[in-house]
Amino acid sequence: MTPRRPALNASLMCADPMDLGAEVAALAAAGIDMFHCDIMDGVFVPNVTLGLYQVAAIAAAADVPVEAHLMVSRPEDYIEPLAEAGVRCITVHAESTVHLSRLLYRIADAGVGVGLSLNPATPVASAEDVIHLVDLLQVMTVDPGFAGQAFLPRAVERVAEAGALLRRRGRDRTLLQVDGSVNLDTIPEVVAAGADSLVLGSSSLFQVPRDQYPDRIARLRRTADVQFAG
Ligand code: DX5
Ligand code: ZN
Repeated sequence: MTPRRPALNASLMCADPMDLGAEVAALAAAGIDMFHCDIMDGVFVPNVTLGLYQVAAIAAAADVPVEAHLMVSRPEDYIEPLAEAGVRCITVHAESTVHLSRLLYRIADAGVGVGLSLNPATPVASAEDVIHLVDLLQVMTVDPGFAGQAFLPRAVERVAEAGALLRRRGRDRTLLQVDGSVNLDTIPEVVAAGADSLVLGSSSLFQVPRDQYPDRIARLRRTADVQFAG
């Protein structure tokens, strides 16, 4: 698999909720590659963040592609509304449905990218039999639900396992995304393990005030691009 320059994906649950429009505009102007929108229902995970209406408003306002990360107990209810709202990729949790294959086909049928996310306790190998449907494979490096958690010990190994699965199954175009505590300390090791899309939240991009987003994105990109420079 040819290494790709890693994509920088801003986690908007970590943006200023009182000024979301200005945050989206500033990040787009600063050259971010994607917007990651965490949708939670307080049931699948014990928290509530962005909802369907906010994500639709973000998708309508942004020129940057929007990816929705569904952490909900009934993901089926969100697929068509999100696709109609202009979201480019819908990422669902393997653990959130009994009928994962059906759900992934439903996302594909809605005409958007198919994302599959794996909790830290879900074996990477469990993606094997649906991987042919997946455009974005997301490895959670924290338990989902909250920003600002610690990077889990087996995280890097799991990213490498996911990369190996994609290579073995010829999924060259599937993005390998990492979500949770992705920052200046952890980016070198997750990129070396094969990650090519990085979800940036409270421990990296949103540590700085809005006027410093261009500098912070440039620094994160330099850190992520290290293997291309070498
Ligand atoms: C976790 C969320 C992430 C989180 C990542 O469920 O999906 O988007 O905000 O950012 P950190 O860990 O750096 O706060
Ligand atoms: Zn997320």
